[in-house]
Amino acid sequence: MKDLLHLRAPGNWINDPNGMIYYRGQYHLFYQHFPYEPRWGTMHWGHAVSRDLLTWEHQRIALYPSVYADQNGCFSGSAIERDGKLVIYYTGVRYEVLNPEDIHRHVNGQYEPSQLMLASPDGVHFDNTKKRVVVPTILDAAIGDRRNTRDPKVWRDEQGVYHMVLGTTYEGRGRLLFYRSTDGDTWEYQNCCTAPNNTLGWMWECPDLFRVGESWVVHLSPMAMEIDSAPAYQAACAVVEFDEENAKMTPPQSLSRIDYGWDLYAPQTCLDREGRRMMIGWMRMPAVVDAEVPWRGMMTAPRLVEVRDGRVCYPLHPDVREAFVREIPADAPYSGGEPRLYTLSLSEGETAVLGGYRITRQNGRIVADRSACCPGIDLEKPLVASPVIEGDAMLEILVNDNIVECYVNHGEAVLSQAVMQFTEEQQLPQGARCYRMVVKQ
Ligand code: FRU
Repeated sequence: MKDLLHLRAPGNWINDPNGMIYYRGQYHLFYQHFPYEPRWGTMHWGHAVSRDLLTWEHQRIALYPSVYADQNGCFSGSAIERDGKLVIYYTGVRYEVLNPEDIHRHVNGQYEPSQLMLASPDGVHFDNTKKRVVVPTILDAAIGDRRNTRDPKVWRDEQGVYHMVLGTTYEGRGRLLFYRSTDGDTWEYQNCCTAPNNTLGWMWECPDLFRVGESWVVHLSPMAMEIDSAPAYQAACAVVEFDEENAKMTPPQSLSRIDYGWDLYAPQTCLDREGRRMMIGWMRMPAVVDAEVPWRGMMTAPRLVEVRDGRVCYPLHPDVREAFVREIPADAPYSGGEPRLYTLSLSEGETAVLGGYRITRQNGRIVADRSACCPGIDLEKPLVASPVIEGDAMLEILVNDNIVECYVNHGEAVLSQAVMQFTEEQQLPQGARCYRMVVKQ
């Protein structure tokens, strides 16, 4: 089974991207997966590979609960290459209380996490009997939370030392824990970094920390961070000071949104084929009656992470951008079936409608309205908006079945949204262009 451009659940449920890595000439993208129902449950790691970031080929499930420490789920984590092997670090969970009527879901977050490792010799075979706990459940409350500590992101520095960052909570605030290892097998706790206050989320899920040029960028998925005075689950970023050797990070005083569409969460980054930092995020989909849908959850297209004038930007990955070469008339309504890329500029007050999806420039912001593409769904936020864009707003709009991604000025702001269907309505400003994707064999 193959997906074009946007990886989606092969059936049932997926959430976070995991273990994303360019390894032996292929991109590997694992993901949180519940294979039995289109809703969250006992986590497995699904797996897909791609040679070009355009076509994703689904593989067998890579990780599944198999040992005491992960008997109730293999939560999120990352992958590195070590001595030619693809090595996975992830959070295993064990429920402290079991609901006898529903073994696939925890009772009020009462579960015990620990961090595990599994090495695959080739990225094809994953021997689930060879898992090892590398960071046991944290029992020292001064360091981290016994229950809410998870999502190891591991990297190797230029000296060959391995680093792990974990998300946790401390006194109602998000906190990062840093571990260090000289061989990737034996880990020791090194340091932590705590949010300055409780407005930046009570727990930091799926942390990621990496260098872009001279800057260090942190990605977090804070639980219930304050946005416009309301608690929100939104992936966030900041440029931070980080002393890698001592794992000393200056806490961010504020966080910026990674995407303004309200659907993107738990993104992950890795280095692409050319050593550039790239990111893919999970697209949550508007709530519908679960039983009525065959699948839930998909991934964004890959983006690069760049820092421009101290701001983190997310342009569409050039390998994707450059695949849209076949120009077709822009005014035919988009009805799905294959990805398309539209390019256009919006000046104040102008509107573009793509298969019913409306994008308007209003008070300098880019405002998107998906209501016509989500009939019968009670949308939590019918309108989403970018920050004020100074000057011109050049848009690259990527549409595919069930998703619209709008890149403003090459990633200065991005709005990505899940949609259910497209309509006949198409209205584009002068100068708009449309391209089909060409995949080289
Ligand atoms: C984020 C998250 C992670 C966790 C995983 C479980 O969406 O809650 O923190 O590891 O999903 O599926």
